[in-house]
Amino acid sequence: MASSSSNIDLSGPSFCVVTGASQGIGRAIAVEISKCLGPKSLMLLLARKKQELATTASLCQSDKVEVLYNSIDLAKASEKEMYDVLHQALSGHKASDFSNCLIFHNVGSLGNLAVETSRMENIEELRQYYDLNVFKVISLNTQFLKIFEEVEDRVIIVNITSLCAIKPMGGMAYYCSGKAAREMYFRVLAEEKKQIKVLNYSPGPVETAMIDYVLEEAVNENLKDVFTSFKNQGTLLKPEITAKKCMKVLLAGKFAPGEHVDYFDDE
Ligand SMILES: NC(=O)c1ccc[n+]([C@@H]2O[C@H](COP(=O)([O-])OP(=O)(O)OC[C@H]3O[C@@H](n4cnc5c(N)ncnc54)[C@H](OP(=O)(O)O)[C@@H]3O)[C@@H](O)[C@H]2O)c1
Repeated sequence: MASSSSNIDLSGPSFCVVTGASQGIGRAIAVEISKCLGPKSLMLLLARKKQELATTASLCQSDKVEVLYNSIDLAKASEKEMYDVLHQALSGHKASDFSNCLIFHNVGSLGNLAVETSRMENIEELRQYYDLNVFKVISLNTQFLKIFEEVEDRVIIVNITSLCAIKPMGGMAYYCSGKAAREMYFRVLAEEKKQIKVLNYSPGPVETAMIDYVLEEAVNENLKDVFTSFKNQGTLLKPEITAKKCMKVLLAGKFAPGEHVDYFDDE
């Protein structure tokens, strides 16, 4: 990990968006970041399941932090809808009221695990996968940057990436290629916008619905074996543990622009 940058100070009022905040890693990240934010902070939680978002919101709400949530299908939302959701959350506030403007791009899905890579030909399905995991992530990020354009040096972006973005995993071509594309977009952004802090955080193997999905859907035997042994040996991380590490890495600020930092990396 690069070690030149300084700590990130979140003691002032922050505006913070977390996508995929209804469960799993997103919920844990929302809870952990809410503990770090200063007075008069505002959080916006996004996902489809409203009831689950409400539960996350109740875990994040405090004297210091107001929490809003919005049920939105991030695979389908138009650019205007995304802009409006962000803009409405700000109502009554100016972008410059906040000393930090954070967004955690956590939303994600695994894609079709039942098709062999050499037999992928359903382009419409692949396109839909890329809509949620790549295109709409980029688009939401762009809407966020538009809103905070005048205070760009206060923007902090965390993309929840994966080891699969940099290391091929048999049976996961949708996921690996999508994570690679998404991570590279954030690296290019970081290259262009040196005043914005950009972190690609890879959470390690975490006990969430995603793991169950692999065990149920995967046709690749090795993939199934790897995840079965993770589960049986108890090596899966709890969402809270990796979320805490994410905060530690973020607040220490020792990452290079757009750096891929993994849960298991040495500090
Ligand atoms: N679990 C792991 O081992 C692991 C490892 C490396 C990286 N990651 C990454 O960590 C992130 C979170 O994964 P997780 O394991 O916590 O998965 P998860 O439990 O399946 O959570 C995914 C989240 O994304 C939301 N989401 C899915 N489709 C959506 C849509 N169309 N519109 C809006 N929100 C949507 C879900 O909410 P709704 O269903 O309410 O919409 C949910 O909150 C992902 O980016 C994943 O790739 C996970």
